[in-house]
Amino acid sequence: MNKTDYERVRSTTLDIVSELRPADTGVQTMPDVSPTKWHLAHVTWFFERFVLEPHGVPRLDDEYHYLFNSYYNSVGEMHPRSRRGEIERPGWDDVLAYRSHVDEHMARLLDASDLDAATQDVLRLGLHHEQQHQELILTDIKHVLAQTPEQVAARSDLGMPLGESPAAYEFMRGVDGIVRIGHAGDGFGFDNETPEHDALLHAHSIGTRLVTNGEFREFIESGAYDDPLLWLSDGWATIKREHWNRPLYWDEALETEFTLGGRREIDPHAAVTHVSYYEADAFARWAGYRLPTEFEWECAARDEGLEGNLLAAHAWHPGAANGGHQFIGDAWEWTSSAYAPYPGFQPLEGSLGEYNGKFMCNQMTVRGGSCVTADDHIRTSYRSFFYPDSRWQFLGFRLAKDEHD
Ligand SMILES: [Fe+2]
Repeated sequence: MNKTDYERVRSTTLDIVSELRPADTGVQTMPDVSPTKWHLAHVTWFFERFVLEPHGVPRLDDEYHYLFNSYYNSVGEMHPRSRRGEIERPGWDDVLAYRSHVDEHMARLLDASDLDAATQDVLRLGLHHEQQHQELILTDIKHVLAQTPEQVAARSDLGMPLGESPAAYEFMRGVDGIVRIGHAGDGFGFDNETPEHDALLHAHSIGTRLVTNGEFREFIESGAYDDPLLWLSDGWATIKREHWNRPLYWDEALETEFTLGGRREIDPHAAVTHVSYYEADAFARWAGYRLPTEFEWECAARDEGLEGNLLAAHAWHPGAANGGHQFIGDAWEWTSSAYAPYPGFQPLEGSLGEYNGKFMCNQMTVRGGSCVTADDHIRTSYRSFFYPDSRWQFLGFRLAKDEHD
């Protein structure tokens, strides 16, 4: 990590919001959604609090420390997440000025070359943190713009991922027995990917691509949302309470969906997205299969390379498999694995120990990144995690099955 890496990541954040108007950036449409303005200030606060402050740079504004701390209880009180949309001051211009202020100090620090290893580690974490927020900025603003009567696009120059008609759903045999799982080596990994350890895989096969919109439409049209036998108890309760009967951004006629490029016709060959764990699980049951475990997923994805429909492809929407296996990019994939610590897991020391470990309860692991994940931010050992009723992220799934030979 050096000054070039820092500047590249920071400028990407500004680029992805470049077509938004200041008024767009303060809106919060639900507790999970943070305003764009808040994201830009928060990732800046992260560098100010965890890199600059330990090097003696005073805070620009104590109020920002309260407003833009996300969930680090060990560094102080914070503004409630569900009320970030009420932050009127600082405005968009003030937030951009805050970014410039922190960037200037960071440039001075990075020019001083001989950063100690601990600072290097936090800097690297700060850049990966900002890349995580780049994805959140886009998924959150998608939720905001989807509510607008005009169906405003976040971006006018997105490519439409073209899809070839996928073949019938196929499976490939996975490895079984004892396998190595998790992150090891010198490259970056979050603490929740460690330590590398053994896991036991039973005989299974895993799908060669993501489930498509066309396949999901068949599931809907079969009456699946009214068949209690297909659903987990929490899932049934959720779809009935929330009146869910289709993916988040689909219209009632199942013909169009809201995308970051505005409302478009649903491509039947593209991967389905914005479905909850409950819907993914119910689909798998309806189709006679199951979701893969995160370990099955990791072993299958490991030999596939890290290319895919990611942020730089500039589609910002999932596409079709086009003969590939879609492990990386398009949509995060629900797995049947609960997000739990690996054997021997140790969170980072100090306040940054709050980064991942404290969320290891009641959430499911998702894998593989999405169409808005930064290209150099994904790994096959990467674990993200969401509550099973989450739908506003680019969440899709593939199928798996047991083998009995
Ligand atoms: Fe954060």
